[in-house]
Amino acid sequence: MKKTRIKNATVVLPEGCCRVSVLIEGTRIADIDPAPQIAVDINIDAAGLYLLPGVIDDHVHFREPGLTHKEDLAHATRACAKGGVTTFFDMPNTYPTTTTGDLLEEKLALAADRSLVNYGFYIGATRDNLQQLRSVHRTPGIKLFIGSSTGDLLVDEQDALEQIFAATQLPLCGHCEDERTVRRNMARFARTDHVADHSQIRDEQAALIAVQRAMDLAVRHRHRFHVAHVSTGAEADLLPAARPWLTGEVCPHHLLLNVDDYPRLGTRAQINPALKTEADNRRLWEALREDHIQLVATDHAPHTLEEKNRPYPESPSGLPAVENSLALMLTQVHEGRCTLEQVVHWMCEAPARVWDVRNKGAIVRGFDADLVLVDLYKRAEVRDAEQETRCRWSPWHGTILTGWPLRTWVRGQEVYCEGRFNPSRVDREVLFDHPLGGYWGRTTLAG
Ligand code: DOR
Ligand code: ZN
Repeated sequence: MKKTRIKNATVVLPEGCCRVSVLIEGTRIADIDPAPQIAVDINIDAAGLYLLPGVIDDHVHFREPGLTHKEDLAHATRACAKGGVTTFFDMPNTYPTTTTGDLLEEKLALAADRSLVNYGFYIGATRDNLQQLRSVHRTPGIKLFIGSSTGDLLVDEQDALEQIFAATQLPLCGHCEDERTVRRNMARFARTDHVADHSQIRDEQAALIAVQRAMDLAVRHRHRFHVAHVSTGAEADLLPAARPWLTGEVCPHHLLLNVDDYPRLGTRAQINPALKTEADNRRLWEALREDHIQLVATDHAPHTLEEKNRPYPESPSGLPAVENSLALMLTQVHEGRCTLEQVVHWMCEAPARVWDVRNKGAIVRGFDADLVLVDLYKRAEVRDAEQETRCRWSPWHGTILTGWPLRTWVRGQEVYCEGRFNPSRVDREVLFDHPLGGYWGRTTLAG
């Protein structure tokens, strides 16, 4: 089996940063700090660089099948490799929507053929696919839209929700924006063509009501529920009360952008849940630091610029992010908002724990060699034209970020090296150890 030694890098281990060598053998991390005399096929001197576990992005919309004019697996996963994302979990609002075991397997087969990085696919809940939700296994969990967004997977009736929480075993995650509140607000802004009104329509109240509803269901049914894209400080304040049943995630755009960015970004900043205020940015950072929110994920949701440039509200909600998320968060380390170890916890270790991912999320002997070598001091500007995502734009266009991935390994195979991509030949389907107990239940990282 091929052996690679990465030496002289500062390695972010679960116990902290340490200057050690890492030995990759086949698809696994064979050893940390191996004896120097071990013969290897490839020796990489990474002096001055940082070695991190690959990012696990538990919330992306890669649009395949059915919406491949916006994005596809080939483009999206090159974007992942370039951005240091070695694993993604894709949402079910593709066409057709992923609501049966057969459709889930079709997606897995597509990804086996086309993905450069590790993959997992959620199954979407509808009003009447309970049997399917009960019988699938090859998935991180079930996605619920409590409140509508792009696509038609809304499950809003209390009866249907009670059944899903009562009769399924897989962990759940949900888009929480209350449908009635959104509709009522929409009627008030019926004639609006100001994109800034998006934040008045999808307001704090809409998010809060839906999260409260999910929380009540999760606690009563003793069923794990992961709140996707928490966008308000008010929601974040609620989450700890429902421990261990609730976990939460926040997106870089909800941490770093707010309603004051609409004049600059226009509909590029139109997303669901909508951007909130600067005070929410601050409170979300605090919640993340205090472990009231457990992880950072992108909600990468590309649309073409042509679609985005339609006048609001015909413009669709969503923005691409996987290739810049790690650099965005590393830039925050330089800004003093967080530490490198926190970034690794939020983007690698925590998502692995929330979804019971087998052998990923940390640099530990025996784990998969999903690794990213980072130059923490490299400064580069995000440019639309250089984006790998099929839609070729970024809300961060024109922003200089500090801290970029240079090389990325997926299960021991180098898929990205300073601008060049190598096709992957290893098995990249993520395995899940449901029910391991999730974020609050799993306490050790042993192989
Ligand atoms: O802004 C969004 N876009 N939010 C979602 O929940 C879905 C996504 C999409 O699929 O475009
Ligand atoms: Zn989403």
